[in-house]
Amino acid sequence: MFDIKGYIFDLDGVIVDTARFHFLAWRETARELGFELTERDNERLKGVSRMESLEIILRLAGIHLDEERKWAFTEKKNTRYLEWVDTLRPSDTLPGIADFLRSLKEAHRPVALASASKNARRVISLLEIASLFDAVIDGSMIEKTKPDPEIFIKAAQALGIRASECVVFEDAQNGIEAAKAAEMTAVGVGSPEHLGEADLVIPDFSPSHIYLLKQRGIVR
Ligand code: BG6
Ligand code: MG
Repeated sequence: MFDIKGYIFDLDGVIVDTARFHFLAWRETARELGFELTERDNERLKGVSRMESLEIILRLAGIHLDEERKWAFTEKKNTRYLEWVDTLRPSDTLPGIADFLRSLKEAHRPVALASASKNARRVISLLEIASLFDAVIDGSMIEKTKPDPEIFIKAAQALGIRASECVVFEDAQNGIEAAKAAEMTAVGVGSPEHLGEADLVIPDFSPSHIYLLKQRGIVR
């Protein structure tokens, strides 16, 4: 039985489909290097930092770049990514998530955002959901990215809740691993194919899946 007091959400791919924008921006950037990034390879980029993502792509492509060119490629990718991000509207949140966040707020449950993205604050502000979080830990506040548990430990500390009493919602295998390493309950959002290590996997936050969370004792 879970004794959940704190709720921690990943952003990209859990609250909004920006995971798609990251993929499209990286695919275009990788093409400039003569490499075709597949959706399967892209799974490895989820939850890791911008620079680590480039390094994974370079390893897959067998390409070496000096630090200056690496920096230039990450800047290019981010410019492309932000062109999509800046089109975001409040109606772009994924099914059921905005209502779920509002219900947690109304019930006075502590809620944190834990995203490896340095653009996380910009995204939640465009979606007009920033006020629904009691704490935000973003990519500028961490040393190590997922699967290291640092980001979730920091989120739990910011909420003042013990790690073992937190649940993490994640769409990335790296994120599920990080939540488990932090000794938290992990709910995968997406397909069980990539999220096998999670305590429970739901496709989205529509009412029937929230019901499942309640039945499993993850949400009261
Ligand atoms: C994570 C994404 O949330 O943020 C990763 O899952 C991304 O794919 C990382 O690389 C860093 O994002 P940003 O916006 O700082 O480039
Ligand atoms: Mg994600």
